Formats: sequence, C-alpha cells, structure tokens
Amino acid sequence: MSTVMYREKYRPQFHFTPPAKWMNDPNGMVYFDGEYHLFYQHYPEGTTWGPMHWGHAISTDLTHWEHRPIALKPDQNGFIFSGSAVVDWEDTSGFFSGKPGLVAIFTHADHYPDSDRPRQRQSLAYSLDKGRTWVMYEGNPVLCNEQITDFRDPKVFWHATKQQWVMVLAACDRVHFYTSANLKEWSFASEFGAAEGSHAGVWECPDLIELPINGHAEETKWILIVSIGDHPQMAEGSRTQYFVGSFDGSTFTNDASPETVLWLDHGRDNYAGVTWSDVDRSDKGKLFIGWMSNWKYANLTPTSSWRSAMTLPRVLSLKKGPSGIRLVQKPVTDLQKLRLEAQVWQEVTVNPGQNLLSDVHSDIYELECEIDLGEASEVGFKLRNSEREETVVGYNTAMQTLFVDRCNSGESGFHDAFACKHDVQLELQNGRLKLHLFVDSSSIEVFANDGEIVITDQIFPDPFSTGMELYVLDGKAKVISLALHPLKSTYSVVRV
Ligand code: FRU
Repeated sequence: MSTVMYREKYRPQFHFTPPAKWMNDPNGMVYFDGEYHLFYQHYPEGTTWGPMHWGHAISTDLTHWEHRPIALKPDQNGFIFSGSAVVDWEDTSGFFSGKPGLVAIFTHADHYPDSDRPRQRQSLAYSLDKGRTWVMYEGNPVLCNEQITDFRDPKVFWHATKQQWVMVLAACDRVHFYTSANLKEWSFASEFGAAEGSHAGVWECPDLIELPINGHAEETKWILIVSIGDHPQMAEGSRTQYFVGSFDGSTFTNDASPETVLWLDHGRDNYAGVTWSDVDRSDKGKLFIGWMSNWKYANLTPTSSWRSAMTLPRVLSLKKGPSGIRLVQKPVTDLQKLRLEAQVWQEVTVNPGQNLLSDVHSDIYELECEIDLGEASEVGFKLRNSEREETVVGYNTAMQTLFVDRCNSGESGFHDAFACKHDVQLELQNGRLKLHLFVDSSSIEVFANDGEIVITDQIFPDPFSTGMELYVLDGKAKVISLALHPLKSTYSVVRV
C-alpha cells in the first residue's frame, strides 16, 4: 500500500471505503480467529452499481482495514447479492472435516430462463483458509421460491436454545424465517411483517439479534432490523427500521402495535446495516455497520475513483426508557486510538454572538460535549464551515428537537433531495444536551444522549472548509464540558 493513496477529494480518512470503484451494502461480517471480516457489495469495473461481487477486507481493530482480493465473483448462477457469513463451529455443513470454518450464505441473482423476470436464490460458499479464498458449494442454490421475485439477503445465525441455524430473509415487503441443521437444507418456519412497521419500500437486508435490556443478561429482547428501499415520493429515500419483540426459534412477535415505526438512524445515510456474527466481546453488545449512503442519490455522489463509505462500526445495546425499549448505538471504543491531542473547555458560559471555537480548524475530528441550554432558544455547532459552507448540528429548545442541516454543507447539486434539514425529538437530561460527533472528509455522525439518538449524514464540503462555531440564540448557555479530538488518518501509518 502506498502512502499517497486515499488522499482524493472527499476520501474518508477513518471510515471504510473500497480502494476503488463502487460499493454498497456491508456483507458477511464475521469474527474468526482474531480477525474481523467485512465483505461488501462491489462492482469492480465502475463507480456506479453494476454486476455484483463481494469485495473483502480484514481488520484486527475495526479501525484499520487490510484490503483483500475479491472474495466472490459472479458465476453460472448469477451475480452475488447481499448475505451473511457464520463460523460453522461444529462442522454441521461437513465442509471442514470436523474443524470450524467459515460459510457464506448469500443471494445469487440472475433471470428466469427466457424471461426478464429477476430470479433470486440463496447459495453457499465456504472457506478452508480463514476467509482468504472461497469455494462455491456445488449444490447451489440451496433455497428458492418461484412465487416471490424479491427474495434475498439471507442473514444466518446459530440459535443456541433450539440447536439449529436460523435464516432471516427479505421476501417482498416482509421477512421469512427458515431453519436448518446443516446450512444446506432449509425449512420454512414463519413469515413476519405483512401489516407491521413501514412498507414505504421493498424490505431488504434483515437481521435478527438478541440483546440484554439495560445490560442485564437475564432479561433480553430480540431486535429485528429491516432496511426499506427508496420510494420516489419519500424525501428520506432508503432507510432502516427495527422491531422490538420475542423470538422462539421459529416465530418473531412484535411487542409494539403494528403501526409503530422505529427508525434506527435519523439521518439520511445509514442503510442495509447488519451485525457481525460470532463476535466475542466483553461489552456483550452486538457490532453493527451500515452503508453510509442512500439509494436516492447513491450513484450520483461527487466522488472520483471510488464511491461510498461505511458508517463507523457501532456497538448496539438496549435501553428501557419512558417510551419503551429502544436501540442505543455507540461508536466502537477502538476508534479512540486515532485521537490526537485534545483541546478541552470546561464550565464556560457562551453568549449569543460569541464563538468559543473561532480559533479552531480541523477537517477530521471527534467532538464530545455536554451543554446546559440555560436560556438559549437554540444551541448548535456549525462544522466544516467557511464563508460559504456550514453543516449545522443544533438543538431547538421549544420544539425539543435535534437537527442536522446540510443545506449549505458543500456540493449538493447532484440530487434535489440532498440539500436538506432533518430533525428528531430528543428529550434533554436535566436541561443538558450531550453530543458525540464524528466528522470525516465527507460525513458527519451524531450520537446524542449517549447514543439514544443517532444521525448519520454524508456531506461534501470543500477541503478548506475547516472552521467551527459554537453558537447560541436568544440567551446564554453553559458548556459543561467540550473536548475536541483531532483524529489521525487511518492511512497515516508509513509502511516500508
Ligand atoms: C440493498 C440491496 C440488497 C441487494 C443488494 C444488491 O441495498 O438492494 O437488497 O442484495 O443491495 O446490490
């Protein structure tokens, strides 16, 4: 790897991007033998969506990634759409001569013979060398359904109580569950979702995970994550919802009323995210990563040699609050090793018209703050700013809303829906706003109130828009604490 690479305009410096060309969904995330694998939907010939392959990268710290050769290429069964990977610890598949090994379960996409109708069937590939090379299973495909056209994105996990594999699969605008003893033969178990949640688009990339409530291992809930595709009439484009409920090994039951919709992220650019399989981490959370783009404009974003990035890897947990059990997301702590020397402010009163950060300039950084809103009607940060550009992250006291405004964030003319301001209800804790922000060359991620609310957005600011402002409106507020951590690039290690 050369040190001059990865310096193109807008190239993220601490988010995962493909070395070149197109990327969409994260796929096949699995942890095995000390390595985190990340596969991804990839078109190696172009910077727009095309015949899908699985790109591949490996990390030992979720922060620095080593790019690997393409793992899965289209074959006689079609292109390689999204899917998952698991460690087959007991060699239930028989691929590994009794030892543990990696199995990928994905969608083969082609067309019905002599027809324009897409055909989507589930297939297997396995690796005998810790994910370095992959063998297509000769019995592919392993699961078909001629009635349902959109039938894809298998996510598989081992259900310890029932001692069987479970697959959750997107089937038109609902999900199907299947079970298996050996990953090769699958039986239909149940369907979920016909009248539940949002149906504003096709359902894609489901995931089902069990998480403790408030960190207590004895009490758990099952979370069903479902991405929904773009709908031309919906400004939000593609986004991800989740359901909180129970799962008995074959059927998922939603705790909420059918019309309840819970969004995983309140920004525009977190799609098709799912969790890592087989992660053994002391925090007992589940590790999640999403595709940091939106099908509304994904093919049009103004990058050059590559297109798209992933969100930061995040730990998911559950918190019981006044409105029920909700997903909480926190960036993985491994990222802290990128921190450079911090600038810290404490107990500072801020008045309208003042800017505490007028001398600070940075383009890639992390910012943590706790602010007592006092008498202010609005408090916020203007980031990546210059005379012409700013991305605003603010809180409106009267409305009790947190917002991101990327109307003047930089390049936005590539699609009408890109320049926008969006907000979400957020209750303050003792009149205080807690924010944890990550700003990279072309994105902003906002974790509010310790990850209870998350907003993930792409932005395309001029590289020289590096100013910062902390503003208050109509009355003073107090910064209880503010820490700005400039971050070093994950590419700054010189390799000889
Ligand atoms: C989601 C998705 C998946 C599909 C893949 C194709 O973004 O549409 O449903 O498998 O992308 O690249």
